[in-house]
Amino acid sequence: MTAPPELAGLAELADRIERLSSLGADALDAEEHALLGRKGGLLTAHLRTLATLAVEHRKAHGARVNALKGRAEELIQARRQALKAEADLGRREAVDLTMPARRRWVGAEHPVTRVVDEIVDIFRALGFAIAVGPEIETEWYNFLALNFPADHPAMDMHDTLYVDAPPVDEGTPGGRLLLRTHTSPVQIRVFQASAPPVRVVIPGMVYRSDAFDASHSPAFSQIEGLAVDEGISFVDLKATLIHFARRFFSPTTKTRFRPSFFPFTEPSAEMDVECQLCHGGGCPACKGTGWMEILGCGMVHPAVLEHGGVDPERYTGWAFGMGPHRIAMLRYGIPDIRLLLEGDMRFLEQFASR
Ligand code: PHE
Repeated sequence: MTAPPELAGLAELADRIERLSSLGADALDAEEHALLGRKGGLLTAHLRTLATLAVEHRKAHGARVNALKGRAEELIQARRQALKAEADLGRREAVDLTMPARRRWVGAEHPVTRVVDEIVDIFRALGFAIAVGPEIETEWYNFLALNFPADHPAMDMHDTLYVDAPPVDEGTPGGRLLLRTHTSPVQIRVFQASAPPVRVVIPGMVYRSDAFDASHSPAFSQIEGLAVDEGISFVDLKATLIHFARRFFSPTTKTRFRPSFFPFTEPSAEMDVECQLCHGGGCPACKGTGWMEILGCGMVHPAVLEHGGVDPERYTGWAFGMGPHRIAMLRYGIPDIRLLLEGDMRFLEQFASR
């Protein structure tokens, strides 16, 4: 008696079932479906055909097909467990304990922020408050109120960044709008806001129509100082600024004042400090002079006091302006101002440990 044709191929099916133990997860699912699926599964189909067989075949072949089905189920279950165990192990190994730890991210103040904070702190200890003003100014505040003659070259389009905007509100001393070229216009705003005595420092960004190269930038910071009261003289100016330089650089730092000119101060001076890199010996950074210029200063011009509504017969005062970007370069020996403006982490990170 030969096996009915429906049962032919059971031997191959047995081989196929044994191969279940080597399948991956997706192939295993597919085989489970192909063998045991309720509709198209091969073994399911074999079980169904049993009913059509002659009785004498039914028992033996029924046992055979059921044994194959049992074996398939057993192997599928075992393989699933093995695959799950492998996956769990893989997940554990994905945490490689031998890998070097990632470095902690350490934040730091930007060197210019640090310089501004230190300057402000030194002046705060002397009784100075902080004042700020707008970065977009009118021609009047930025130039005319500060005693610049109307045709001064600093007002030229080539030097100043004018803002294309509707005219300023009536009642505000106006003219064209521009990005302030210095923090000095805030002197006028401070006078307008409060009567003397005035002692303020004014930090902020300023803008000029300049190249962006190692020593120029169209945007940089300034910090203005202003002291106005009865009986203030140039002696106060010198004493205060020398005290500042000794605090900020070192207690033995030498300073010198050179005569200079600004329309809004009279007399005017520039202050140099001994070169912080060569300490006076002469090096490329100070062009061999041993000195570095750090600020412009002078006695507030009577016309400026008047424009701010302060009586120049009663009050006198002094002002200075310095550039924290420049001072940060001098202090830390930074050769290129762009490094302070580009935000490159490799540069900034070096200040985290200082
Ligand atoms: N505003 C001047 C500048 O930008 C600096 C300065 C301020 C000079 C105050 C004297 C007094 O160059």
